[in-house]
Amino acid sequence: MGMRSKETIDLRSDTVTLPTEEMLEAIRNAELGDDVYREDPTVKKLEEIAAEKMGKEAALLVTSGTQANLVCLMNNAKRGELVFLEAESHIYWYEGGGLSSIAGLLPWLIRGNLGAIDPEDIEAAIRPKNIHFPEPSLICVENTHNRYGGTIVTPDQMRAISEVAKRHSLNFYMDGARIFNAAVALKVNVKEFTRHVDNLMFCLSKSLSCPVGSMVVGTQQFIEKARKTRKVLGGGMRQAGIIAAAGIVALEKMIDRLEEDHENARRLAKGIAKINGIKVNLDAVQTNMVRFDISDLGVSDGLFVLKLKENNVLVSTMAKNSIRMVTHRGIEKVHVEKAINVIDSIVKELHSKKQA
Ligand SMILES: Cc1ncc(COP(=O)(O)O)c(C=O)c1O
Repeated sequence: MGMRSKETIDLRSDTVTLPTEEMLEAIRNAELGDDVYREDPTVKKLEEIAAEKMGKEAALLVTSGTQANLVCLMNNAKRGELVFLEAESHIYWYEGGGLSSIAGLLPWLIRGNLGAIDPEDIEAAIRPKNIHFPEPSLICVENTHNRYGGTIVTPDQMRAISEVAKRHSLNFYMDGARIFNAAVALKVNVKEFTRHVDNLMFCLSKSLSCPVGSMVVGTQQFIEKARKTRKVLGGGMRQAGIIAAAGIVALEKMIDRLEEDHENARRLAKGIAKINGIKVNLDAVQTNMVRFDISDLGVSDGLFVLKLKENNVLVSTMAKNSIRMVTHRGIEKVHVEKAINVIDSIVKELHSKKQA
C-alpha cells in the first residue's frame, strides 16, 4: 500500500507514503490511555525506543515536523534572541515564519555548501557582547537537507559545528526530519550524528512511512519543558497510542529499507542525467532526493510539472527552473524506469517544438 493509485508515480515527497499493513494492525491492537495524563503505554514505549535509538535521555511524540521545530526553537532560545540557520533551511522557508511570529526569534542566515554550514562562517557571525547586538543562543542544522536535495551534513561536520557551539555557549539543535536517511546512506549508527547536538527532532511520517508524527529528543529536562510547550501549542494528544503504534513499527522495521529508496534515487538521477537539456549534480544525490535543472529546456518549471502530471508523474518545483523528485516506499524500480521514460519523451517533445 505504497501509493494511492497504481497509475500515478508520486515523486513529490516521501510524505505521501501510506501506512504498512503491519502498522494498521499495530494501530488496531494498540493499548491506549490518555497521554496528556501520561497514561498511554504505547506512546511511552515509542518515546523510550526513540530516546534509546538516538542516545539521549528522553523523547516526546509531537504532531508534525513543524511543531517539533517550533517546540524546540521555543525551548532552546528566548524571545528576541538570535538563531543561526542555514539560508535554505526548512525552518526559514516553509514553517510559516513561526520562528518569529510565535517563538519571537531573529533568524541569522548563513549559506552552506550543499546544506552544510562552514563552522568558520558561524564563528565569524558571532559578535562580541555589546548593547547593540541581539543575543545569539542557538545553532540549527538540517540533516538531511531538504532544499539541497537530501544532502548529508556528515558526523565530522556536525562535530566541528558543535565545537563552535560549545566555545560560545550556544545550544545546538538538529532538524533531523530525515536523519535515518543520512545514517543509512553513510552506513553509520544514527548516534554518530545525534551525539553532537543538545537536542533534535526526526519525522516518523516521511520516509519511515507513518501516517502522522514526529519525535523531539533530548535531555529529560528539555523534554519536560517541551511537553509543556507542546500543550501550549495545542499538541497535547489523548489516545495518541494510535499514532505511536505505527511509530514503533517504523523504528523497528522501516529503517534498513531506506537503502532501496537511495538506490532508486541514484537510478533515477543517472537516468535523467543522460537526457539532453537536463542538468543533475550527481554529487548532491546522497539519499532519497533528486534535484535537477531545466533551464536549457525553454519551458517554465510550472509547465514542466504540469506536462509530467498529464503523464501521471508527480514532481515538485523548488525554485525557478529547479525540479525535485523524492523516492520512497511507494516507488519501485519499474516506477523509476517509467518516470525516466516519461521525462525523456517530454524533453524530446520540447526540443522538437523549439526546432519547429
Ligand atoms: C527538513 C524538514 N524539516 C521539517 C519538516 C516539517 O515537517 P512536517 O511537514 O511534518 O511539518 C520537513 C517537511 O518536509 C522537512 O523536510
